[in-house]
Amino acid sequence: MILKHTIDRIFEATDIVEVIGEFVTLKKRGANYIGLSPFANEKTPSFTVSPAKGIFKDFSSGIGGSAVTFLMEHEKFSYPEALKWLAKKYGIEVEETVDAPEDREAENHRESLLIVTGYASKFFEKSLWDTDDGKAIGLSYYKERGFTDATIRKFELGYSPDQWEAFSSQAIKDGYKQEYLEETGLSVKRENGTLYDRWRGRVMFPIHSFTGRVIAFGGRTLKNDKTVPKYVNSPESEIYHKSNVLYGLHFAKKAIRDQDNCYLVEGYADVISVHQSGIENVVASSGTSLTVEQIRLIGRLTKNITILYDGDAAGIKASLRGLDLILEEGLNVKVVLFPDGHDPDSYVRLLGSTGFKNYIEQNKKDFILYKTDILLKEAGNDPIRKSEVIREVVESIAKIPDSIKASVFLKECSHILDIEERSLISELNKMRAAKGKKEYQQQQNRASRETPPEDYYEAAPPAEAAILEKAEPYESQEKEIVRLLVTYGGQLINWDDIANTYIGPFMIASLSDVAFEHPVYKEFVDIYHQEVEKGSLPDEAFFINHSDKKVADVVITMLLSQYTLSPNWYDMHKITTSDETKNMKATILTAIFHLKKQKVSAILRDLQKQLQATKIPEEEEILLSQFQHMKKVQKTITDYLGIVITE
Ligand code: CTP
Ligand code: MN
Repeated sequence: MILKHTIDRIFEATDIVEVIGEFVTLKKRGANYIGLSPFANEKTPSFTVSPAKGIFKDFSSGIGGSAVTFLMEHEKFSYPEALKWLAKKYGIEVEETVDAPEDREAENHRESLLIVTGYASKFFEKSLWDTDDGKAIGLSYYKERGFTDATIRKFELGYSPDQWEAFSSQAIKDGYKQEYLEETGLSVKRENGTLYDRWRGRVMFPIHSFTGRVIAFGGRTLKNDKTVPKYVNSPESEIYHKSNVLYGLHFAKKAIRDQDNCYLVEGYADVISVHQSGIENVVASSGTSLTVEQIRLIGRLTKNITILYDGDAAGIKASLRGLDLILEEGLNVKVVLFPDGHDPDSYVRLLGSTGFKNYIEQNKKDFILYKTDILLKEAGNDPIRKSEVIREVVESIAKIPDSIKASVFLKECSHILDIEERSLISELNKMRAAKGKKEYQQQQNRASRETPPEDYYEAAPPAEAAILEKAEPYESQEKEIVRLLVTYGGQLINWDDIANTYIGPFMIASLSDVAFEHPVYKEFVDIYHQEVEKGSLPDEAFFINHSDKKVADVVITMLLSQYTLSPNWYDMHKITTSDETKNMKATILTAIFHLKKQKVSAILRDLQKQLQATKIPEEEEILLSQFQHMKKVQKTITDYLGIVITE
């Protein structure tokens, strides 16, 4: 258990924009920051962060909360893990209550696996630096490849002893559970139940999570024997999903954001060599073709990918289709080819850092133009094959979500392909039409959820109004009450007839005869009520951090949506907003009366039904007097609201 005052210090120190900024590219928009949702695939940013309030809301996935919530959702941390991560970031010493010795047992399963993998990494490092074999075989191999001590330490490279059980037996001796050793794939079980090591006599490349914890390994053989696999990698496990991981990303993320570009290479050695040369924005897909998840990992940091290909890659053509995936995610793709026989690792060592950088600058080509070139060369003079090329190229261009960008490519490709731009455009439109139909359906589904529409940030008020209209009438009235309580509850009332009280308690008292129907708004008002009874005034922070997640989320959503609009929007559209704070009394009372009017109408309808149904004269009399009473109430309300009832 982390002590309360440590938690408080962590929350005080935490800058939510800085924290989330490590994972999501954020842009300032008015008082808030916005970015693309890291939890959903979206083209228009709906992810909003409020530095002032210390909260975020992702309108695509519905996830929202504090920096801690973000880390728990994004990094799959537990609550204490998230706090410790923040503590480390802000240099805060974590004080914990002393736990029982069954600590290791108590840690959750994932954490256990991470601990075992971390232990293994240390074991392989020790074996590299501190054993005779490690130094003679492993370390000298790395040195031969040109890795410096600092690089070897930074990437936590290691060596697995060339014995069957060196690691497994040491791990068991040190108290690590057999099941975790197996699950992480560090050890393999024999028929007789004993364990042997997955890696023997290999140089070890630990694979890190985004936050820098070791989650898996790649072990390279030192033999030139074609019958042994060059790399043996960790199997998939609860902590390692190959398709969600990019090798080197933890070390590269800052540079990727700073340089606004990510170099993509194929192998471990490429990442390390290029990084060592001073180009730190480099990651590897580790030999497999790039997955959507991996592209999105990069897409959160930058919209620019530069792919560094091996010159000998016969698979270049095969990989072309895979690159469309990157375009589809809205990223810009450039490619650089190296001379035959070279990969980035060998080439950076040949040219040195400056020469390598120059080579990249001079040889990088936009992917679409590059693809057009290659396919065209291949097709030669065959007209049928050429028309296939046109189709394939336009197919790629159609994937680009930004239509201005797409049209630039169309123009350029029409030159290369020697074909009229018009024909390319009509081909593109055909493809777009097919695609648009699918997207329209998706959008329809999306619209029915809480998500703001595409142009949310430009046109939020009408959109919000539309949502309100669609909602149950009582729901929007109840929501308005909650909003006013959150926004103004703590303000002192100083109206001509009422003074010396706060808006919150005043509203709660005024609404004591109203039963809220929406479960979450009801919960909110109940909580508010309880706090008022206790003599305290709950503020934004109180609700944002409330243990009832639904209540907290309602408040977060409210704080980050319609009422934090960029002021420019109004100027732009020449809309003058009536400032609700100018006449606070009217604002508050109108909201209260609107809600009451809804409730009274519902009661009247109900009484009417009962009146029609009853056959007992006494009951009829009671119902009738109730009906007349409610009618009077209704009149008071409508008089105030100045609305004439037409029913
Ligand atoms: N790879 C793999 N298993 C293999 C071969 C390759 O997992 N049997 C992955 C590794 O992630 C490797 C990448 O594919 O880093 C690229 O393969 P390759 O170019 O053969 O390896 P390099 O990293 O270039 O290794 P080296 O330079 O040491 O030969
Ligand atoms: Mn290589």
